[in-house]
Amino acid sequence: MTTDELERLLAQQPVALLHRLARGRVHRQFRAGKRRLIELLLQHSSHNRAGLESDLQALLEARQSQSASSAQRSQYPLPITRKKATPQTPVPALSEPAISLTGWLEGIGVPEPQPFVPDPWQTDALSALSEIDVVISVPTGSGKTYVAIEAARRAMEDNRTVIYTSPLKALSNTKYTEFSRLFGPDKVGILTGDRQEHSQAPLLIMTTEILRNLLYDAASGEIDVRLDTLGLVILDESQYIADRERGVVWEETIIFCPSQAKLLLLSASIGNPQDIADWLTSIRPTACRLVRHSKRTVPLRAGYLHPNGRLTPLFRTLGIPYGHPTHLHPEAKRLFLEYEEETLPSGRSRR
Ligand SMILES: Nc1ncnc2c1ncn2[C@@H]1O[C@H](COP(=O)(O)OP(=O)(O)OP(=O)(O)O)[C@@H](O)[C@H]1O
Ligand SMILES: [Mg+2]
Repeated sequence: MTTDELERLLAQQPVALLHRLARGRVHRQFRAGKRRLIELLLQHSSHNRAGLESDLQALLEARQSQSASSAQRSQYPLPITRKKATPQTPVPALSEPAISLTGWLEGIGVPEPQPFVPDPWQTDALSALSEIDVVISVPTGSGKTYVAIEAARRAMEDNRTVIYTSPLKALSNTKYTEFSRLFGPDKVGILTGDRQEHSQAPLLIMTTEILRNLLYDAASGEIDVRLDTLGLVILDESQYIADRERGVVWEETIIFCPSQAKLLLLSASIGNPQDIADWLTSIRPTACRLVRHSKRTVPLRAGYLHPNGRLTPLFRTLGIPYGHPTHLHPEAKRLFLEYEEETLPSGRSRR
């Protein structure tokens, strides 16, 4: 889409939709009028055009499906006054049929294998990472690991070492197994409080606390692991930076990270990724690129599990049947509706 086409498309949208699109992209967006919002969104699109276009597409699809369902509903208008329905004018019931659990869970399984094609945001992140730091903020299950693996492979081919950190020992162990299988056991090491293997390997998996301590030691001259060849530091689950207790570990790791290494922050749930990217830009030698979108690849199925063992589907995800939560508190309904819009999947089939 050209910039003119994008501008025209934005101009055709209601201002409420533009505000949703601007959330997290435009600072104090709620103050801007329609014209100004479009201007700011276009300015923003020069950093991350793919993310903006895909979010816009998702919002348009959501609106389309909403208007389709309200058109369906308007076939059965509610009577305006409380007239007693006569047998000649029956009012069809609006309540939806109960959803069987089997129907709600339908489609979960292993899809047919298909050739792997990286998504545009994945390619975008990898090409940016060859020059600058990158923050990736995309929904869970989008494929952040692919970017981490590919970036690690490229750094190692370039004879640089790579450090991958996760907040949990269990996740570090899983990644150690996964990466050893992928790159070969001699290429991958692990350092956690419980486990130290192949500490001289070019790809080291560790908890973020261990890396922070290593960087402290390096600052005081005691080096366990070679940091001068460090080419890439990947901080997975980097939303921990907002953790009251442990967030400081992420902050210090970023601050002490050697300047020649590129930083890659991965997260599905940073609320203010642009602020994090701006902060990195302000303290690191190169700029930081934010790659983000909010389109879900793997649809969420939200249900309420009652202590009596009944599971009630709660709100709609495209293509997945849902129950009719008539007894919900209005505030809960409002939240679910908002959430429903945010959980629309892109319809991409997964491997
Ligand atoms: N471009 C792609 N096309 C199809 N499938 C993909 C693509 N990229 C990754 N995947 C698959 O998507 C699945 C989820 O990927 P991954 O585990 O990397 O998600 P994630 O973004 O790290 O999620 P989380 O936030 O839960 O850690 C994996 O099975 C992966 O093989
Ligand atoms: Mg992940």
